[in-house]
Amino acid sequence: MYSKCLLIRNIAATLAIWCLLVPYAEAVDSVSCCQSLAASLGSKVLYPDSTAYSSSLASYWSAQEQTTYPACILRASSAQDVSTALKVLVPRACKFAVRGGGHGALAGLANIQDGVTIDLRGLDPIKPFAANQLVSVGSGLRIGAIYHALHPLGVAISGGRSYDVGVPGSTLGNGWGWLSNEAGFCCDNVVEYEVVLANGTIITASQQNNANLWKSLKGGREQLWHHVVYSLTESQVPRLLSAVSDFAARRKPDPKETLLFTFSYTPMVGNMYYIQCVYTAPTVQPPAGFDQLLTLPGALFRATNASNTLPGLSYDYNLNTPKGSQTYNASIASVSGVYGIQWTLSFQPLTRLMTDASAARGGNVLGIGLPPEEGLHEVQLTAAFPDAVDYSRVSQAADQLLADCTAAVKSPGADWPWVEMNHASHIQDPISTYGEENRAFMMDTAAKYDPDAVFQTLMPGGYKLKGGHTGR
Ligand SMILES: Cc1cc2nc3c(=O)[nH]c(=O)nc-3n(C[C@H](O)[C@H](O)[C@H](O)COP(=O)(O)OP(=O)(O)OC[C@H]3O[C@@H](n4cnc5c(N)ncnc54)[C@H](O)[C@@H]3O)c2cc1C
Ligand SMILES: *[C@@H]1O[C@H](CO)[C@@H](O)[C@H](O)[C@H]1NC(C)=O
Ligand SMILES: *[C@@H]1O[C@H](CO)[C@@H](O)[C@H](O)[C@H]1NC(C)=O
Ligand SMILES: *[C@@H]1O[C@H](CO)[C@@H](O)[C@H](O)[C@H]1NC(C)=O
Repeated sequence: MYSKCLLIRNIAATLAIWCLLVPYAEAVDSVSCCQSLAASLGSKVLYPDSTAYSSSLASYWSAQEQTTYPACILRASSAQDVSTALKVLVPRACKFAVRGGGHGALAGLANIQDGVTIDLRGLDPIKPFAANQLVSVGSGLRIGAIYHALHPLGVAISGGRSYDVGVPGSTLGNGWGWLSNEAGFCCDNVVEYEVVLANGTIITASQQNNANLWKSLKGGREQLWHHVVYSLTESQVPRLLSAVSDFAARRKPDPKETLLFTFSYTPMVGNMYYIQCVYTAPTVQPPAGFDQLLTLPGALFRATNASNTLPGLSYDYNLNTPKGSQTYNASIASVSGVYGIQWTLSFQPLTRLMTDASAARGGNVLGIGLPPEEGLHEVQLTAAFPDAVDYSRVSQAADQLLADCTAAVKSPGADWPWVEMNHASHIQDPISTYGEENRAFMMDTAAKYDPDAVFQTLMPGGYKLKGGHTGR
């Protein structure tokens, strides 16, 4: 994938240490920042009284990002616009946020109260080239738009499962989905980034020695084979868990076979347990690897067109193994009284197929290490609820569940330190789990490309290298 993603986030993430050494001037008031911006970029600068401003806010996924109000929003439509904006904002010490798909959950991640938000949704070209082995994509796109555009060509990129997930955030964080066993994470498949530096200079950044990368972009499909195995009874859960473990532990895994295991509680339905089984190619016969799951006595299954989108407030946590399930079950009592709650825990297998695919594409800075042979599950909590009044109560329950699950998995071989940035919570510090070597590598890169630490001091959103962020 030739990506035109603007790599501001990674640079920002690498600069925390400079924050302590090079304090910036107090930010000037945001009204004058917006005025200066409008002097250069005119009607692309949106103010709170406009419908364009409201619709930009309304397009965030989470309620807490929708209710963070910037002084103005820049509707950028090119890398040049972003360059112009940074040349205006940085010398004036104006605080800003950068927003891609707007699918991150935490308030202040891709938006900024009383600051300037740079909305990249206008950067939306999708241009396949090199005989459909590569695609150039704008950094304001959502992943579904790319799947849709590439579908007629019989190709796809390795991206997220949910149609609405943004391309830049998920790519810069890592990004994974049904094709990750075959092609690695989204970030592994980027061959070139177009980057706007803090001083407004536009450069491209490409990886070398990555012939395998080109191959991976043939990972496209006419369609997926997709079955969901449901169980509504508690008594099935141990069987489901052991079938999932056996699936992960197979000696010769087929990279096209992949699954996602989910527990979900809603007051209407109560507990529900289901497994999405996916084969990343068309097939008439159920793939052999799913035999054990599809023949579970008493379980229901049906084919479906999946959509993972949940509205409302959200928390995502990384835990480590299915052992967290017991703890999850116990946590339901703490949220069962919350009106309209959807309390969902997903177990996402992290396989050696994925880390091998990453290595084959030149590696990355994630520092995942070698997952154990018997399989590893990243556990993600998503809580969605309609009424903001319940925010602190749900937040406390989520923090407690994270603490309980972390304690529950502290058994030999089960504890895995890696935390994925794209699903991390406000109390986690993903970059600290990437390892010192990777952190040092990113710091060196940051010192070279952003010597004044602009993305650290003036862009508070997102996880920073030395820990910390402004999300909540
Ligand atoms: C319902 C749901 C389902 C999900 N499913 C998946 C999944 O299947 N697979 C997966 O991998 N992830 C998934 N995610 C997580 C998703 O990858 C992250 O939320 C990701 O950050 C979203 O990207 P975005 O561009 O929409 O982010 P935004 O919210 O726009 O931004 C997130 C962060 O990235 C920064 N950023 C964005 N664009 C740029 C840029 N051009 N330059 C520099 N920094 C930038 C922002 O400043 C912010 O800090 C899911 C999330 C939700 C809510
Ligand atoms: C899946 O999508 C196809 C095409 O849009 C539609 O015909 C079919 O009914 C859908 N199946 C389900 C289970 O929703
Ligand atoms: C969940 O908790 C209930 C009691 O609250 C118990 O009956 C059930 O067996 C538990 N399920 C699992 C999977 O632990
Ligand atoms: C912009 O910043 C980069 C990285 O620090 C530097 O190499 C380049 O010379 C700068 N350009 C200008 C015009 O100052």
